Amino acid sequence: MLPPGEELEELERVAVAVAGEAGRLIVDERPRDLGVSKTKSTATDIVTVMDQRAQDLLRARLGELRPQDGFLGEEEGGAAARSDVTWVVDPIDGTVNYLYALPAYAVSVAAVVGNPATPGAWQPVAGAVVNPVTGQLFHARAGGGAWLRTGEGEEERLAVGAPPVLAQALAGTGFGYDPERRREQARVLVEVLPRVRDIRRLGSAALDICAVAHGTLDCYYEQGLNAWDMAAAWLVLTEAGGVFTGLGDAPPTPDMVVAGAPALHGELERVVREARAARS
Ligand code: IPD
Ligand code: CA
Repeated sequence: MLPPGEELEELERVAVAVAGEAGRLIVDERPRDLGVSKTKSTATDIVTVMDQRAQDLLRARLGELRPQDGFLGEEEGGAAARSDVTWVVDPIDGTVNYLYALPAYAVSVAAVVGNPATPGAWQPVAGAVVNPVTGQLFHARAGGGAWLRTGEGEEERLAVGAPPVLAQALAGTGFGYDPERRREQARVLVEVLPRVRDIRRLGSAALDICAVAHGTLDCYYEQGLNAWDMAAAWLVLTEAGGVFTGLGDAPPTPDMVVAGAPALHGELERVVREARAARS
């Protein structure tokens, strides 16, 4: 059930505040020489430590501001809800970019209702995605529209535009870490790539989906996303007038997500669905 309007406003404010704080932490405390040693396991460990530290910060702040709510994050440590709301957070989305100092990583914070541990059994009601390097902060609450706050503090309301046809569309996607899943993703990509203008693999699912809301990508699909990768960006996109689903009638789940403006979404969903069916 959707929380009442005033509570939704509070949830959005909290998401924006804590995402910004965690964003500052991961930028300010990123060791300058992390990329130099990236072939060593220590570099990966530092990323894991920063992931955990950012999540601990998010959990502590959310615990102070909203003690009754549940918590689910990408790293260790969750908490069951004593309210209808659970916070679903990705402390660093785009960890490989973070390791290489590529400025396309994000903190994603969403308030959701339902059970986020069960694919398809939940939905976001407020959320924020911040790229702490560029300062871009995407935020939304159910029924409140989608907004981009720039590094200069200006607010721009987002609305997905009239998209091009699929053949002229710039499509985002991503790949998981498991080699078998990558083989399957590559098989689908073989069918999608000849049908679009081009493909981008930016490295942060949360930023990819917000990019569709902003118009810097036309559409996006990916297999294997977890709740924390998609929760906040899903709401940013739908509040901007976009469509975010799984295949066919399915809700967005790790099986597949497809994102785009209404006029493009159906075409991409069909191509991805047929590619999956042909190859499975
Ligand atoms: C990953 C990124 C990537 C996507 C992967 C995610 P992480 O999250 O969002 O773009 O392709 O599926 O797992 O590991 O950087 O938090
Ligand atoms: Ca992620």
